[in-house]
Amino acid sequence: MEAGIRTGELPPGAPLPPVRKLAATLGVSPATVASAYRSLRQRGLVETAGRHGTRVRPRPPVAGARAARRLPPAAGLHDLSTGEPDPRLLPDLRPHLRRLATGPPSVAGYRDAGTWPELAALARSRLAADGVPATTITVTNGALDGIERLLAAHLRPGDRVAVEDPGWANLLDLVAALGLEAVAVPVDDEGPTADGLRRALAGGARAAVVTVRAQNPTGAAVSADRCAQLRSVLAAYPRVLLIEDDHAAELSGVPLHTLAGATTAWAFLRSVSKPYGPDLRLAVLAADEATVARVEGRMRLGAGWTSTLLQRLVASLWRDREVAGQVAAARESYERRRTALCRELTARGLAAHGRTGINVWVPVPDETRVVAVLREAGYAVAPGALYRLGPSPEGAVRITVSPLDDAGIGPLADAVHAAVRGRAAHGV
Ligand SMILES: Cc1ncc(COP(=O)(O)O)c(C=O)c1O
Repeated sequence: MEAGIRTGELPPGAPLPPVRKLAATLGVSPATVASAYRSLRQRGLVETAGRHGTRVRPRPPVAGARAARRLPPAAGLHDLSTGEPDPRLLPDLRPHLRRLATGPPSVAGYRDAGTWPELAALARSRLAADGVPATTITVTNGALDGIERLLAAHLRPGDRVAVEDPGWANLLDLVAALGLEAVAVPVDDEGPTADGLRRALAGGARAAVVTVRAQNPTGAAVSADRCAQLRSVLAAYPRVLLIEDDHAAELSGVPLHTLAGATTAWAFLRSVSKPYGPDLRLAVLAADEATVARVEGRMRLGAGWTSTLLQRLVASLWRDREVAGQVAAARESYERRRTALCRELTARGLAAHGRTGINVWVPVPDETRVVAVLREAGYAVAPGALYRLGPSPEGAVRITVSPLDDAGIGPLADAVHAAVRGRAAHGV
């Protein structure tokens, strides 16, 4: 099965044969097949959807041909499905690389490498300015790497994790690949709902992942009120590992209301991917002392540390006033395009969400059809199903504004409107 998934013979969504049938074909006991399926499920390769049987997950964690991971959009399509930052708005790294090349040499070896003190000092003051108690911090290879390390350090396969639904597809895949069980917490524009979190924790979730700003896909940001409500829910579960993902960081454009410290084990991740570039692969992880020690200690036995060269590069970007100006301009540009798209969609009678970040989330009655009709009209958008934990009666599409220019917003809103209205006109 794994070989079939790797080669693409068993593509995402492909059904696996029923246990008894396969057992008969192979001449083994059903218990053997069931055990093999369990192992595939614990590693996130397949999922079981009740009476729909067992299927290959949308993005199983085995690397096949790189191109197979994500189908390229057909030539000529305006691709608004990516979730990538706008490359036109990322700072130019070259002057900073040059600065590193001409600065004093610093060769870090196995013994002295680790969190680079200067980056740590800058990160501490930036986080403290946002109210994050960043006494102990470390550095990981991006936010998702940090989340993986945190979950692996605190949880065991089979444990439950509360995640936002809809939520970031990669996180849902990671949770499955770690053999953890995702428990859905509904999200509205102010973040995860307090009731949803309470239910997930009462149901035994041992960790919760909250996207504090620029929630993917909805653009939600935790408001001051919601933050207070979530804190009071968490107060009854002090042993829960609380992970906050601030992946959009300086691009978010709304104040941070952090849950840091609401539980004994907490971690706050701030990535540099969206404001400065995803290829930097760096996030700062502030956490309670025991959590930082666990993550760092385990990291030392494997990857070791995040390259000091990258840490110095990020510090150079953070110290540069011109870069700060570019990041502020990028934030305004996303804000302008996102709010314009929401406004245009609302004016056409559609609902649209996008308080922060680079995406707009548009509830639609039949997302498969809307995605297909938009394709015909020349746009690739992401189907809402990618971001949901299970089947949902509510459809939606996610539109990334990064590739959109101002002049393209009205025509796109017309196309989305036509795609939704077409359905009503056909009465299906
Ligand atoms: C919610 C969320 N967290 C984290 C990331 C990625 O962070 P990193 O590149 O630091 O792993 C993304 C990327 O889209 C995201 O949507």
